[in-house]
Amino acid sequence: MTSEPSVAGAGSAPSGKPKKREHWASPLGAILAAAGSAIGLGNIWRFPYLAGENGGGAFVLIYLGLVFTIGLSVLVAELAIGRLAQANAVTAFHRLGKPRWAVIGWLGVASALIILSFYSIVAGWTVAYAGKMAAGAFTAEGTQAADVFNAFVAQPLTPLLFGAGFMTVTAVVIWRGVSRGIERLSLVLMPLLLLLLVALMVRALTLPGALDGVAFLFAPDFGAVDFDTINAALGQAFFSLSLGLGAMLTYGSYMNSAHNVGRSAGAIVALDTGIAISAGLVVLPAVFAFGLEPGAGPGLVFVTLPEIFAQMPLGQVFGTLFFVLLAFAALTSTVALMEPVCAFLIGARGMRRHTAAVLTGMVAFVLGIPSSWSLGMWSGVTLFDMTIFDIADYVTAKLMLPLGGLLIAVFTGWVLGGRIEASLAPQGGGGVLVAGWRLVVRFLAPVAIAWILVSGLLGG
Ligand code: PHE
Repeated sequence: MTSEPSVAGAGSAPSGKPKKREHWASPLGAILAAAGSAIGLGNIWRFPYLAGENGGGAFVLIYLGLVFTIGLSVLVAELAIGRLAQANAVTAFHRLGKPRWAVIGWLGVASALIILSFYSIVAGWTVAYAGKMAAGAFTAEGTQAADVFNAFVAQPLTPLLFGAGFMTVTAVVIWRGVSRGIERLSLVLMPLLLLLLVALMVRALTLPGALDGVAFLFAPDFGAVDFDTINAALGQAFFSLSLGLGAMLTYGSYMNSAHNVGRSAGAIVALDTGIAISAGLVVLPAVFAFGLEPGAGPGLVFVTLPEIFAQMPLGQVFGTLFFVLLAFAALTSTVALMEPVCAFLIGARGMRRHTAAVLTGMVAFVLGIPSSWSLGMWSGVTLFDMTIFDIADYVTAKLMLPLGGLLIAVFTGWVLGGRIEASLAPQGGGGVLVAGWRLVVRFLAPVAIAWILVSGLLGG
C-alpha cells in the first residue's frame, strides 16, 4: 500500500528527508509547537470567563463533549491534510481537491488575520499587566481594579504600543523559521508555562473557600443551559484548539511521515483541555474565595484577578507570575496565527519569510486599531449592541471558525476519502479509531456544526 501518496510537489519523501520545505526537528517539538498554538489566551482568559458567564459545570461538560468528538476529529483532519499536501492551506486544498476548495484556505487566511488583529491587542494587555503587577499598581489602598482596567484599555496609544511590541516579537519568531523559531520557542515556553500554572493552582486551591469554585466548575446545572451555551462552547472549542482556519493544517505541513498524526492530535487535545481546566481551577476558586462574581465577562482575568491578588498574601508575586504566564501562552498563539498567513505568502506568492512576517504583522496591527479603540473613544460604534472588538471576536469564533471546520470535515470525509485514511494508518491498521473518526468527519461534525451555525444565525 502506498502509505504516503505522493502529491505533486510534495516536499517530503517517505524517508522524511525534506527537500525545500522546512520541517520540525523532532516529534516532541512538533507536538509542543501545536500545543503552543492551541494553548493561549483562549485557555487562560476566555475559557474561565465563558465558564463563569455560562453557569459553570454544564458549559464545561458540553465543551468537553464537543472537544473530544468534533474538535479532536477536525484536528486530526487538519494535521493529516497538511502533512499529505506539504503545503500552506490555500495550496493544500487546491492541490488535494478541485481549485474551488481553495476557498477554505482563503477563509482561513482571513480568519487568522482578524483573530491576530485583536488577539495581539489583548496579548499586549497581558504584558502591560505583568508590569503593573510587578510595580504593585493594585496594592494601594482603595485602588479599583475595574477603573485601572477601563482607563488602561481606553487610552488611544498605550495599548497599541504594547500590541505593536507583541506583534514585533511574534514577527521575529516567524522570521527565524519553523524549527529555529517556532519550535525552539515552544520547547522553552511550554514547560515553563506548565510550571507556572501548577504553582498558581496550588495557591488558588489552598485559599479558604476555594472549593466553591471547584464545585462551580464541575457540578453541572443544566437548568442554566440554553442555545447560547452550546453556541459558546462550540466557538470556544474551535478557538481553543486553533481549528477551522488552517493553522493546525500549516503546522501539519511541517510534519513528515515519521510523525503519528493521531497520537499527536490526542496529545494536543489533552494538553489544551488540561490547561483550560487548570486555568479554570486558578481563576474560579480565587473568585469564589473572595466572594466575587464569576460572570464578570472578559474583564474577569484583568479586573477580578487583580482585586484578588491585591488582597492575597504574596499577591504581587503571584499576580506578576500570572500575567507573565498569560503573555507566554499568548506568544506561542500569535506565532501560530501569523504562520498560516506567512506560509501562504511564502508558498503561493513566492515571498521571502522575513518580508512575509513584516507584512503580515503590519496588516494585522492596522486591522487591530479599531478593535482597541472600540474600548475607548469608539465605544459608541456598535452593531447589534456589539462593539468592533466584540464583532471581531464573534464573527471569527462563532461564525468563521465553525464554518471553516464544517468545510474541512466535509472535504476530508467526502472529497479525500481513502487517500487521507491511508496516510493516517499506513499499515492499514487503526481500525475502530479510524472508523469512528470517519463517522465524525462525514456525519456528526457537518450536521452538528451546521445546526449550531444556522440556529445561531436565525436566533440572532
Ligand atoms: N488557540 C489559541 C488560544 O486558545 C488561539 C488561536 C486560534 C491560535 C487560532 C491560533 C489559531 O488562545
